[in-house]
Amino acid sequence: SDGTFVPAVVVGTGYGAAVSALRLGEAGVSTLMLEMGRLWNQPGPDGNVFSGMLRPDKRSSWFKSRTEAPLGSFLWLDVANRDIEPYAGVLDRVNFDQMSVYVGRGVGGGSLVNGGMAVTPRRSYFEEVLPQVDADEMYTKYFPRANSTLRVKTIDKAWFEETEWYTYARVSRRQASNAGLSTTFVPNVYDWDHMRREADGTAARSALAAEVIYGNNHGKVSLDKSYLAAALGTGKVTIETLHQVKAIRQRNDGTYLLTVEQKDAGGKLLATKEISCRHLFLGAGSLGSTELLLRARETGTLPNLGSEIGGGWGPNGNIMTARANHVWNPTGSHQSSIPALGIDDWDNPDAPVFAEIAPLPAGLETWVSLYLAITKNPERGTFVYDAAEDRADLRWTREQNAPAVAAAKSLFDRINRANTTMYRYDLFGKQLKAFADDFCYHPLGGCVLGKATDNYGRVTGYENLYVTDGSLIPGSIGVNPFVTITALAERNVERVIREDVKDSHRD
Ligand code: FDA
Repeated sequence: SDGTFVPAVVVGTGYGAAVSALRLGEAGVSTLMLEMGRLWNQPGPDGNVFSGMLRPDKRSSWFKSRTEAPLGSFLWLDVANRDIEPYAGVLDRVNFDQMSVYVGRGVGGGSLVNGGMAVTPRRSYFEEVLPQVDADEMYTKYFPRANSTLRVKTIDKAWFEETEWYTYARVSRRQASNAGLSTTFVPNVYDWDHMRREADGTAARSALAAEVIYGNNHGKVSLDKSYLAAALGTGKVTIETLHQVKAIRQRNDGTYLLTVEQKDAGGKLLATKEISCRHLFLGAGSLGSTELLLRARETGTLPNLGSEIGGGWGPNGNIMTARANHVWNPTGSHQSSIPALGIDDWDNPDAPVFAEIAPLPAGLETWVSLYLAITKNPERGTFVYDAAEDRADLRWTREQNAPAVAAAKSLFDRINRANTTMYRYDLFGKQLKAFADDFCYHPLGGCVLGKATDNYGRVTGYENLYVTDGSLIPGSIGVNPFVTITALAERNVERVIREDVKDSHRD
């Protein structure tokens, strides 16, 4: 069938997608967002929208029969994971041969599952990673716009110093300082005032109830409460959920025709739809947007796509590690699940590292200090199309993560030496392992700005086809990426609306 025509389609509802939809809506362009995940606004039988981390149920995971938590083990016991019914849950772990990638599924994409850390990259590193982007304009206009629209805030420092919920962060700060390392407060989109009320007992607990990665029931300003709420408020944007874009082709008149599968939350196919549009914005994330374009190139539906599609992928140097503290240095049985502090050693020329001090909110004293280190690893992976499975496969080997492990190790060896402490080896799977080098939270690249696209995300070889998300960033940004993804999308869509969309769709 010819299906429905809409002027603009945005695939996905994560950061890049949400920015694009809001600005298109404000420009008066009727825009349809297609999201493969659910809308997360209805409480389940327990009265909560999300299942939480300590007793995850089917809402936690994207079509798995057992949860796949990043820290599945403790003393080699598989304590955190549960058998569940396959369902359109909020967190997916996409398992490639030698790298697993965590992503969010649902209206809000990664903002539903992430830790909310909202960090603007160091300008010098931004300039190194994206030299063709005008940094002045980014740092005076688009980063401030992204931070204010996302509602980024920093913790009240006096409260941080006194609350038991950040004992773990203060312990790690002292130990970093013993090694001559400095820490910095990490801004967040979690509502810090709400968190204080959680501590006072005057608000329902989320950050203080070990909620993160499977969704926060309260307190976090995820995209559905910021950009997407504003987008819907323009009256020009609509969102279809449980709609997955499978194929993209172009018709003779230049419009795009999408094949879209609609399922129910249990995975049953309800309909296969054809939806067409003039302007197509891909915001399906590094994995999603890259897969859609690779499939289109390799199956010949968009034959003019270039060889750069699929290249320049990296895990943002992500390495998790943990240290065992002495018995006189407890990290607290009460831990806020929202990180507030990072160890900043990015200016170290031998091994730049920015390491978030992460919680281990187990509800009991563990004496563990946990970290997510962001390192500078020049290695890059490549996506290739696997025709038999009809999916993008990631070419990335464990050895490629060796530079990242070495950088993290050099920093935490210093901390261990200064504090006569050691690593924990039992947290990252069944084998002895101090560094988790086989999964990441920060997939970046696949459709790199200036390579697979022009300098504003216009896909090379096609008109009116855009990439708007983390796949534009070539594998590394040195800090948690969503503020950069948001700011870059702001910059790109402003140009695209002005030059390409103009008055073509206004009513
Ligand atoms: P994003 O992945 O957000 O959105 C893509 C959307 O498209 C998803 O909703 C997906 O379901 C949908 N989609 C994909 N394919 C589709 C298709 N074919 N059809 C329809 N829909 C499709 N970052 C940070 O800055 N601070 C932090 O604290 C954290 N913490 C963190 C924790 C965890 C557990 C994770 C998994 C990730 C983080 N991150 C993070 C990373 C951050 O969440 C991530 O970088 C961004 O969400 C990426 O934004 P994008 O716009 O690229 O896509």
